[in-house]
Amino acid sequence: MTTLAKTLEAMAATVDPFAEIKRREEEYELATYKKFPLAIASGRGSWITTTSGERYLDLYGGHAVAATGHCHPHVVAALQKQAAQLLFYSNLVYSDVRAQAAELLVERAPATLAKVFFCNSGTEANENAMRLARLATGREKIITFSGSFHGRTADAISATALGRYRELGRPNVPGHLFAEWGDVESVELLADETVAAIMLEPIQSMAGVRMEEAEFYQAVRRVCDERGILLVFDEVQTGVGRTGEWFFAGSEAAGGVVPDVVTLAKALGSGVPVGACLTTESVAGHIKENDLGTTFGGGMLAMSAVVATIEAIELGDMLGNVRRVEKHLRKSLAGIEGVRAVRGRGLLLGIELAGKSATEIHAKLLERRVITGTSSDPAVLRLLPPLSVQPEEIDIFVEALKKIV
Ligand SMILES: Cc1ncc(COP(=O)(O)O)c(C=O)c1O
Repeated sequence: MTTLAKTLEAMAATVDPFAEIKRREEEYELATYKKFPLAIASGRGSWITTTSGERYLDLYGGHAVAATGHCHPHVVAALQKQAAQLLFYSNLVYSDVRAQAAELLVERAPATLAKVFFCNSGTEANENAMRLARLATGREKIITFSGSFHGRTADAISATALGRYRELGRPNVPGHLFAEWGDVESVELLADETVAAIMLEPIQSMAGVRMEEAEFYQAVRRVCDERGILLVFDEVQTGVGRTGEWFFAGSEAAGGVVPDVVTLAKALGSGVPVGACLTTESVAGHIKENDLGTTFGGGMLAMSAVVATIEAIELGDMLGNVRRVEKHLRKSLAGIEGVRAVRGRGLLLGIELAGKSATEIHAKLLERRVITGTSSDPAVLRLLPPLSVQPEEIDIFVEALKKIV
């Protein structure tokens, strides 16, 4: 490139650097993601700002990650302090911040979930959950459900029924069986003495926010108890306050059902990658040194993110906020022609549109600077906003939706 061309490019970039950022990402990054036509510069609460200074209302939270809102001051301060003190050391050493993260998490979980294993992502948490189940039962097979999504690593993608993901994981890990979501009989047919675990997302988010009645979770728990099978809840999306409670496990919506393993990720570190498996003393009793492990799991920066996330949720009464905002949103959407139903719980909501394509509505909302999500159900628009989102912010979305539908 000539000096003049470089100067012109630099001048253009100072006016609006988006085109140049896009060009460089596309030149150097593998093209596996469909992206919005914007480059993000910063975020605060429920809002993000682009490199050209436009503000967008973020009701998707970067795939449900920004639970405490973007750059929550308490989380930022904790991370800055920890970064200056120590970024990382492995599980070869004890650490105060790791002890605190484990304690805070276990204290908020249903009583029988007494132990935690830290890892780095949702898929890794699910891989470890399945290993825990195999080690604890001495069995190998795993039952999951139609519509499920559990991640993209070998075992987790093999446990995924949705779309073409499973295909992408070929050759799949053997021993994965699929029951019909919501159909207990289909579970009973598969659940024999070779099955280690039944794993389910309490609310199937990617499948279009599909939630069952409490009786279903209770029936699956009963099948597990009768046949010596462990129950795993993949709470990568529903955990850490998203449904208005710390966990879906043990909640009224779950009919009080507590599984043997719960997996978490996404919101757990407010954006710092971290995952976790919570389990019972009884399962933990089968686990020996070196059965599970990861270099980065339990690192100091990630642990300080977990501690600060939990604290920020409590300081801001975000669980109460989730319940209040859900009510407000449901009420506001009730009268809108074009909205057939609102699925889900808390701030994991699927808006079922009557005769409209969610992809189209999503694009039109984006033009009005409101970020939402779609799902594998073409009629369902998904909302996964920060747990701190305010009713007035929801009103902006509702007004925009009204104009569009
Ligand atoms: C329910 C569920 N489980 C697991 C995963 C995988 O998590 P990760 O992308 O952190 O590996 C996801 C991601 O969307 C998810 O929604």
